[in-house]
Amino acid sequence: MKSLRAILTPAELPGLRQSDLADRLCVVFDVLRATSTFITALHHGANRIIPVSDIAEALAWREKAPQALLAGERHGVRISADLTGGIEFDLGNSPREFTPEVVCGRTIVSTTTNGTLALNACAGAAVVLAGSFLNLTATADFIRHHPAEEVILVCAGTGSSAALEDVLAAGALAHRLASPSAGFKLADSAAIAWRTFLSGEASVAEALSTTDNGRRLLGIPDLRADVAFCGQFDCYPLVARQTAAGLQRFAPT
Ligand code: MLT
Repeated sequence: MKSLRAILTPAELPGLRQSDLADRLCVVFDVLRATSTFITALHHGANRIIPVSDIAEALAWREKAPQALLAGERHGVRISADLTGGIEFDLGNSPREFTPEVVCGRTIVSTTTNGTLALNACAGAAVVLAGSFLNLTATADFIRHHPAEEVILVCAGTGSSAALEDVLAAGALAHRLASPSAGFKLADSAAIAWRTFLSGEASVAEALSTTDNGRRLLGIPDLRADVAFCGQFDCYPLVARQTAAGLQRFAPT
């Protein structure tokens, strides 16, 4: 029987990074907003997203690949020239910025506070996916047909703390996967996420607006619409998979 467990806080990421993930499938959730944004960008035709851990790494990519778009946030807002020694990033981390006109065919290099770190912590896994409410069912369908013995739901969190929106999305995926016929054994960590999701299922969009991150974004006029945007279920039916080239839309062969 396959097993399902969850990483609920960023404090668990160093342990995950050091563990043997060779047979594992990891799904990373940073609902507000990194993974929601990357999935939106891929839906709108971005060629690939390269998640990097810090600003210096993003700037090094600008040297290597001058046509790549630089994206990301610090304290929620686009990285500005005063943080980089003079280079303005092209995009922030709002999914609504990643329109087809801006991203179609482009490589995007992104650094965010938690999301890109969580994706990179899973680098040793057999499969790494980016998950969100926006692509929940497509992600569940992919996992159901994948042979990995253990699936790890990785909640990116906020700073060093757990983020409720990530746990809700991990729980929603656990709920999609762990029907009796699907044959998943849930660790306590995955059961916590599942029960959290079931307790707020009727109103995920409303629940997002009460989270620490949701309230922070609602307090920034240009970003407040991101909260409702990221709470939509299944509007982008794609699987976002990390490859050697970066995060890409998975196309079955
Ligand atoms: C993160 O990676 O921590 C988030 O996506 C932050 C944000 O979008 O504001």
